[in-house]
Formats: sequence, structure tokens, C-alpha cells
Amino acid sequence: MIDSFGRNINYLRISVTDLCNLRCKYCIPEQGINKIDNKEILTLEEIEEITKIFVELGVTKVRITGGEPLVRKNVLKLIKNIGSIEKIKDFSITTNGTLLEDYIEELKAFGVNRLNISLDTFNEDRYKYITRGGELQKVLNGIEKAKQMGIYPIKFNVVLVKGFNDDEIKDFVNLTIDEDVHVRFIELMPIGQCKNWSLGKFISNETILNKVKGLEEDKSEDISSPAKYYKLPNAKGKVGLISSISCSFCKDCNRIRLTCDGKLKLCLHSDEEIDLKNPLRNGEDVKQIIINAINKKPQRHNLEDGEYINRNMVAIGG
Ligand code: 5AD
Ligand code: SF4
Repeated sequence: MIDSFGRNINYLRISVTDLCNLRCKYCIPEQGINKIDNKEILTLEEIEEITKIFVELGVTKVRITGGEPLVRKNVLKLIKNIGSIEKIKDFSITTNGTLLEDYIEELKAFGVNRLNISLDTFNEDRYKYITRGGELQKVLNGIEKAKQMGIYPIKFNVVLVKGFNDDEIKDFVNLTIDEDVHVRFIELMPIGQCKNWSLGKFISNETILNKVKGLEEDKSEDISSPAKYYKLPNAKGKVGLISSISCSFCKDCNRIRLTCDGKLKLCLHSDEEIDLKNPLRNGEDVKQIIINAINKKPQRHNLEDGEYINRNMVAIGG
């Protein structure tokens, strides 16, 4: 699928649930979210059907996200079925890692070849604080098991929050020295839950380059990745900087998102959503709806103009 700006849209991110077993402060309000009515949530079969339509249209990369995808009932069945679609060349999952220990063997067996783990701190108390009660040790056990099973590289997504974890930047970077892990720092985005306070807690990716001396640019990664990669000299792993705020990567954007309630999102930072669920349930031509929608993918986001979206990240999946 080529959009009206010549971008080849071949990457679909599928959010399979808006539920999460954690409550990260920048993602979910304390009282939890108004969870989407069950009737509105796509069934696993519907997700599979829509995925197949996207694959017919040229999607070759799929990522499963949430909320926390592994809390969705029977998600492994879906993962198995999507993993067996031949034209999908790259199949991955973003998880908070809390359930990884129990799921990783099957994930690997079903073709998940890459793993992104959201982890903002290696300090147990801080982890408990930012996730409102999460247990770090569980995540670490899952990571250990994934490594033992030969899943490389494992990517850590670290959201930097001023005064919370910015003193751990060097520790995170140092993880890349001896192991082929990617540590990706994500700038805190003004989305949903934190749109009113995120800018005050914002740490620009420039800060990392200033704090950590010796990071050299690494150009070997795919250009459509929103991360700009760096390496410490002789390090096995890499450091990625995802600067959605301070620098835009829209011109190489190849991605679209399917929310768990069946909306196609053409851009993370736009409130525009195209419903695919009702058309699918009514037997309409979903393929044509997608083709028409792709032409409307915005050229770029407009965060600098204060255009922030309302949907919480937990209902988009990052
Ligand atoms: N800004 C940046 N990243 C966020 N995430 C959730 N909310 C935000 C936000 N406001 C991240 C999570 C996870 C991914 C799914 O999205 O930490 O890595
Ligand atoms: Fe859950 Fe991820 Fe949101 Fe944390 S950031 S509450 S782990 S969806």
C-alpha cells in the first residue's frame, strides 16, 4: 500500500486489548480506565480476518500490542494463527514482561521473532511506584528466560520521566556493552492520561547524548524505525533514541494501527479513526475501506501546535 506521500505502508500494529495488569502513571489514571464495552472489542477471529485483509494489501510486518497483550484471553491462539500467515515476514510483540516467563516458549514456537519489553527502571521500589504495584522480579525472570531461549535482540523501551529515572540513563546504556540488547529511550509523549503534565517531566533525547559520552551513530538499522541508533565503541548492543517530540520521523513512517475496538488509526498522534469493525460485521468491503483510508494518512503529526490526542496509550498500544 502506497499512501499519497509515497510511503510504503507495510507495518501493522494490532492492539488486542485495552486492559493492562499494570497502571503506569503516564499511561493509565489511578482509578483505571473506562474499559471499552465487550461488544465493541473485536473477537480474536475478527482480528485475524482483518489482519489477513491487511496482508493481502501488502502488510509484511505485524506487531501485537495492548494494553498488555498477554492478558487477553486465548491470545496465544491468535498469535499462533497470525504467526502462520506466510506473507508476514516479521512478527513481534510489545509487552510489559510481567507474564513473559509463562508465555515465552509458545511465543517463540508460534513465530514471534522479536520482543520489545517496556521497562522504565531497574529499581524494585521505583518500578512498584511508576507501575502502581508491579513486581520487577517477575519481569526480570521473563527476560532471563527469553535470553536463555535465544531471543536476540531483546529491545527495552524506556520512557524517561524527569526526576524519576533520568539518573538511570547510564545504567541502561551500560546494559548494551556485554549483551546484544537494544535500549530505546522514548520521549514522554503528551497523550491521553499525561497530556497535561508530560511536558514538565519531559527529558529530551539530547540529554542522553550529553550525559553519555562516546555514543556513535549507527546507521545499520531500518530507516523506517522511529529510533535513531547509537553504539558505545565495541558494545554488543545498541542504544535507540525515539524522539517523537523533539524530532519527527513522519517522512519514513510505514505504520498503521488497529485498535482493539476495530478502529484503523493512520497516525498515532491523530484522533482520526476509521471504523473497520461495523463494516466487517455488516459484510461491507473492508478492503476497499482500508484502501481509501490509506490515502488519507496524514503527512506528519503536529505536536508542536498542541494537537494532542485523547485516547489513552493503553488503548492504542504505543
Ligand atoms: N509517552 C511515551 N511512551 C508511552 N508509553 C505509554 N504511554 C506513553 C507516553 N505518554 C509506552 C510504554 C510502552 C509503549 C507501549 O508505550 O511505556 O513502552
Ligand atoms: Fe500497561 Fe504499558 Fe500502560 Fe504500563 S505503559 S500501564 S505496562 S500498557
